[in-house]
Amino acid sequence: MRAASIGDYREAARRRLPHFLFEYFDGGSYAERTLRANIDDLQHIALRQRVLNDVSAIDLSTTLFGQSLSMPVALGPIGLAGMAARRGEVQAARAAAAKDVPFTLSTVSACSLSEVAQGCPTPFWFQLYMVRDRGFLRALLEEASAAACPVLVFTVDMPLPGARYRDVRSGLSGAPGLAGQLRRVGQAMRRPGWAWDVGIHGRPHQLGNVAPLLGPKSGLEDFLGWMKDNFDASVTWADLDFVRAHWQGPIVIKGILDAEDARHAAAAGADGIIVSNHGGRQLDGVPSVARALPAIADAVGDRLTVLADGGVRSGLDVVRMLALGAKGVMLGRAWAFALAADGERGVRHVLELIEAEMRVAMALTGVTAVNQIGQETLAA
Ligand SMILES: Cc1cc2nc3c(=O)[nH]c(=O)nc-3n(C[C@H](O)[C@H](O)[C@H](O)COP(=O)(O)O)c2cc1C
Repeated sequence: MRAASIGDYREAARRRLPHFLFEYFDGGSYAERTLRANIDDLQHIALRQRVLNDVSAIDLSTTLFGQSLSMPVALGPIGLAGMAARRGEVQAARAAAAKDVPFTLSTVSACSLSEVAQGCPTPFWFQLYMVRDRGFLRALLEEASAAACPVLVFTVDMPLPGARYRDVRSGLSGAPGLAGQLRRVGQAMRRPGWAWDVGIHGRPHQLGNVAPLLGPKSGLEDFLGWMKDNFDASVTWADLDFVRAHWQGPIVIKGILDAEDARHAAAAGADGIIVSNHGGRQLDGVPSVARALPAIADAVGDRLTVLADGGVRSGLDVVRMLALGAKGVMLGRAWAFALAADGERGVRHVLELIEAEMRVAMALTGVTAVNQIGQETLAA
């Protein structure tokens, strides 16, 4: 069956991925209220239908941080996305390049920075997590500069990880040692397509940028354990100076959910922020992005570039986020599901769906350019 929507890709990913991996991509933290609220609150925002405007020529293009894009959309950072398909981050980066939108590589990707740089002709954005080992971070930032990454996304909403019950139940993080490994292998064997493509031929144990720090311990479990032990919970606004000292280009702070913090980011000289609650994977019970975004955009929208992510499952949702005050929108699970289901082609198709859906939403709200989308685009 050809996927017609991002929802279809989610179902296709469920069928293709071993259970523990689907749960990893799909899940949130604790009772998953924020995860659900991201999606529901956004979809409940009513657009204002307008008619009899000339909408025969709709222009989706925009510029973010000096970069011309075909539409105000980027693929956001997804740790271990490369486990969804063979050398998955390279495939996703190529899809983004083909559609003229940025791809963001996570610090904790499955493919390393150099592998993605070699595999994809177009520079991509790089996302930084503050880990304790500053020497490692310096080297990583140098590598990202050498790869001509135009934008650094600095994620600040994970001083420590939120509890993800689904990962414990699925056997991803709750079953240590051989027992856990056997459980995951059992689940993988029930997904022969994935097992052949990724498990056997995809070098799943070459775990990207952090591989040198893991040493011989290269299992998924070691990787998750390393993340838990090495993320630096002592980071403050002052550490932005460290990042600034080692990065020449624009810095975009990801994980802002409060207007006060947004003002801090502007005062600290950030070029942009991403209003985000990490897709409902960190503190369950915080507001959805759709609820938090308007006040933040009001507070700092004239001082830095406000992007947003969380719960975007269609081009209509992109238009809603823009109407709430974002200048650009990141996709998260949407592209990870498509990558799992159909690799590079799936991610390209998701971007095509978003583009087509945005066009319809713009036509029927009576706007022809993305900078015309605003509060007036929403029904009272
Ligand atoms: C499986 C998974 C892994 C993620 N890994 C990262 C990461 O490595 N770095 C990061 O900044 N955000 C990460 N995020 C958060 C996403 O960048 C984004 O904020 C979130 O997925 C948006 O919500 P949505 O997926 O519901 O659209 C991850 C999200 C998911 C679902």
